Amino acid sequence: MRKAVYPGTFDPITLGHLDVIAQVAPLFDELVVAVLHNPSKRPWFDLDERLDMIRDAVRAYSHVRADAFSGLLVDYCRSSGVQCVVRGVRNHVDLQNEMAMAQMNRALHDDLVTVFVPTSPEWSFVSSSLVKDVAMHGGDISRFVTPHVANALAARAGGLANRHV
Ligand code: PNS
Repeated sequence: MRKAVYPGTFDPITLGHLDVIAQVAPLFDELVVAVLHNPSKRPWFDLDERLDMIRDAVRAYSHVRADAFSGLLVDYCRSSGVQCVVRGVRNHVDLQNEMAMAQMNRALHDDLVTVFVPTSPEWSFVSSSLVKDVAMHGGDISRFVTPHVANALAARAGGLANRHV
């Protein structure tokens, strides 16, 4: 069985992430979108909210599921019996960072292969951080995320703005 993990923070999932999922989903029998549980990063959305948004976004794929992990990615891969990690790459900066992570993960886990997926050009500037920044300032982010995520972002941005006035 060809299994892969697509790990990330997904705070929140964007159409850029979904583009990566759409590209690789046909290549695997099971694809796990694995959300890092790291409260010290102070995400906008808690783990369950991020998992819900992912589940809604990937509901068309019967073999793509969402899961959470904490600690080292290599340990999660070992315990899940997965030998392939998928990461999206938008530009040369991503590539540089991703190379280091892939090589570190490989050093920690001999059998782990990382597959880099170039993001489609239309999403090359889209990141969860930028989408949150635009939402925070009242901008229209509906082109970059699913409707479910857009609603969640608008609600959270409104809540954060009220807290700061
Ligand atoms: O969406 P992100 O923030 O770019 O994802 C980064 C992530 C979660 C894939 C990476 O930080 C990670 O794997 N963290 C788990 C801890 C770990 O294994 N660190 C060593 C990586 S070389």
